[in-house]
Amino acid sequence: MSFRKDFMWGAATASFQIEGAWNEDGKSPSIWDVFCEEPGRIEDGSDGKVACDHYHRYKEDVKLMADLGLKAYRFSIAWPRVIPEGTGKVNEKGLEFYSNLVDELLKYNITPFVTLYHWDLPYSLQIKGGWLNPEISDWFEEYTRAVVAKLGDRVKHFITFNEPSVFLGCGNLFGVHAPGMKCGSRDLLLAGHNVHIAHGKAVRAIRELAPDAQVGITLATMPRIPNGDMDEKAAYDIYFSCHKPFFVWSDAYWADPIVFGHYPEDLVNECKDIFPKVTDEDMKLISQKIDFIGQNIYQGKYEEGYERPRGTPHTEIGWDTFDSALEWGVKHFYKRWKLPIYITENGLSCHDWESLDGKVHDPNRIDFLHRYLRGLKTAADASCDIRGYFQWSFMDNFEWAKGYNPRFGMVFCDYNTLKRIPKDSAYWYKEVIESNGENL
Ligand code: BGC
Repeated sequence: MSFRKDFMWGAATASFQIEGAWNEDGKSPSIWDVFCEEPGRIEDGSDGKVACDHYHRYKEDVKLMADLGLKAYRFSIAWPRVIPEGTGKVNEKGLEFYSNLVDELLKYNITPFVTLYHWDLPYSLQIKGGWLNPEISDWFEEYTRAVVAKLGDRVKHFITFNEPSVFLGCGNLFGVHAPGMKCGSRDLLLAGHNVHIAHGKAVRAIRELAPDAQVGITLATMPRIPNGDMDEKAAYDIYFSCHKPFFVWSDAYWADPIVFGHYPEDLVNECKDIFPKVTDEDMKLISQKIDFIGQNIYQGKYEEGYERPRGTPHTEIGWDTFDSALEWGVKHFYKRWKLPIYITENGLSCHDWESLDGKVHDPNRIDFLHRYLRGLKTAADASCDIRGYFQWSFMDNFEWAKGYNPRFGMVFCDYNTLKRIPKDSAYWYKEVIESNGENL
């Protein structure tokens, strides 16, 4: 069976990580602009002011995507570009940038996938409480409407949120991402509920303004891989368990309300005293039909306590590799929620640099992708409804609190000259795309 004929082979990026132009054409600061200014927050002391300068070089970048054979491109929109105050007046110039980008992609037959929120909240909204303020779902709906009204005639795939677990978990629980808060479970449950409602309102707005568009949400996930005493069923059960205080990292916490219309029961029972008020209306809004789930998968997890052999491969950022992570991520998700799946991110950071021959050789990336994609093929062979795969990332970029050291791109970016060089793996990926994965 293998990959569908119309399989979307793509690559992904996010606005703050590549765009730069942090204060141009009416854009206001996001929580990440402000976070970068706080000493010690970013490992190499860098920021997103210039990043890859994609804002000014998007035509060159899209041309490169076309040369490398990409069929789809997933990018995110910077809310502070579109509505600088977070709510109220729309900045046409900001929207124009994304509209031009979409036109450029379509010119080369590259399908745009738009993520509405990939973490760069307008700072003006953080001052009002950010995700802790219940009004945020209305602000998010307003912003969504502005984007979809402009792009909905051409964009047919929308993702409401990228990795709510990470932006609340790292940003509001551990405090290592913007806005750098450390909340208790009560506040976190409230923020989580606000994100859910914002998702629901965005889905409703998209259905109204672009009825022929597909809508989904992207979750960060570390699939449980059966091994030792943990068989497939045990792996599934642990994978979808959801408890205090780390519920925010559970995929069930995010997708059960959306697909099943209720929060995981264990969590609700454990948190009776601190759960925010949830009405039937809320749950109706949250559980409107979505068309797909996006999975971002980098790593997996074996049974608790299992020690991997010394010398197990790990990537530059220090993450162990798991050849069957995509396979099990897709199998478990498909079994639980029975929705079409896109791998909206997968990839790795390597020690890439420009060699004397002017090329960037990244054999480890080729091997990593080959192994992971074989796993994905196994899931497709097992009749899971898998629609596409987006490599993270299209090009090297600002890796949040780690700054510019980790290089996740299929295209190398020289941050001094801003020159782009496709890495060896990009040409390898091109062949995978051309053969629709038959060469894996
Ligand atoms: C995020 C990306 C990030 C990548 C690598 C995901 O958590 O969506 O923005 O760069 O992983 O860490």
